[in-house]
Amino acid sequence: MSALLLLVRAGAPAAACLQLATSAVTRPRRAMAQYHTEERGQPCSHNYRLFFKNVTGHYISPFHDIPLKVNSKEENSISTKKAQNTENENLFNMIVEIPRWTNAKMEIATEEPLNPIKQYVKDGKLRYVANIFPYKGYIWNYGTLPQTWEDPHLKDKSTDCCGDNDPIDVCEIGSKIPSCGEVIQVKILGILALIDEGETDWKLIAINVNDPEASKFHDIDDVKKFKPGYLEATLNWFRLYKVPDGKPENQFAFNGEFKNKAFALEVVKSTHQCWKALLMKKCNGGTINCTNVQISDSPFRCTQEEARSLVESVSSSPNKESNNEEQVWHFLGK
Ligand SMILES: *[C@@H]1O[C@H](CO)[C@@H](O)[C@H](O)[C@H]1NC(C)=O
Ligand SMILES: *[C@@H]1O[C@H](CO)[C@@H](O)[C@H](O)[C@H]1NC(C)=O
Repeated sequence: MSALLLLVRAGAPAAACLQLATSAVTRPRRAMAQYHTEERGQPCSHNYRLFFKNVTGHYISPFHDIPLKVNSKEENSISTKKAQNTENENLFNMIVEIPRWTNAKMEIATEEPLNPIKQYVKDGKLRYVANIFPYKGYIWNYGTLPQTWEDPHLKDKSTDCCGDNDPIDVCEIGSKIPSCGEVIQVKILGILALIDEGETDWKLIAINVNDPEASKFHDIDDVKKFKPGYLEATLNWFRLYKVPDGKPENQFAFNGEFKNKAFALEVVKSTHQCWKALLMKKCNGGTINCTNVQISDSPFRCTQEEARSLVESVSSSPNKESNNEEQVWHFLGK
């Protein structure tokens, strides 16, 4: 055990990267884990990539090959208990990109084959989210639902804005902190409609089903009841988070009101339909890379051997500069 810890520490190139490096080192997860990750390149560097494998060790795309619903067999099984069915209907896989209280903007590389997780780069620099008083980094476990896509050519009926060209984002409010690349099961509680520079950028509010308190949470009102202040902080966080980069405050549809679970599930359904159209080449996917290994009718499906050689062709050559996170507090007031 201590040898493993030592190994983890030795792999960390800089103090600011510790949290990330700890989470990203290849290691067996809990025995039951359905997915595994494999690193290429150094954490906190431009060439860092975190690839995904399924339980049998085959490379997959987390964006396309991880099912949206946890029990995706449900469609062809006849369920006798209605209650059981409703519970199943709200059980989703979530890919964790940014563990709570960390700053590195890790995200699924939608434009690269097999869509590994990498750190967002802008103007040649690795990006970190600012610390805005009184918050530290992201205030939830942040990630996405697989097999969803916010179509940038499709105007959303309720927000009157087009999608942001990404899978749908999730803020997971449980108390555990999973690591980057972990796939957890969540139930959805509600949704916020962020308008980011004229694009709809939905933010789902969800809770890890393995959270000790998960059974208390059924809908958005339970968040108000059991985690007072969290939704207000969430709104404030999203309003301000780009201000330190010289951008204006973000806007929200519905006057910043959080919509409930039923509304959220409809949004998830429609982003899943958009993703299906994308993978079946029925709409213009632009620069999104649709290479997958498991979507049977998709023209973008590749073989296991092709997937392996795609991963192996990714360079893990030594770093370009790896700029570290600045330790700054921003006081933006009201
Ligand atoms: C893992 O992926 C491979 C390659 O696509 C596939 O043949 C295999 O059935 C998958 N295993 C599971 C358990 O999903
Ligand atoms: C995705 O990447 C593969 C491999 O580099 C490439 O052949 C393909 O054209 C790319 N685009 C799409 C839409 O999948």
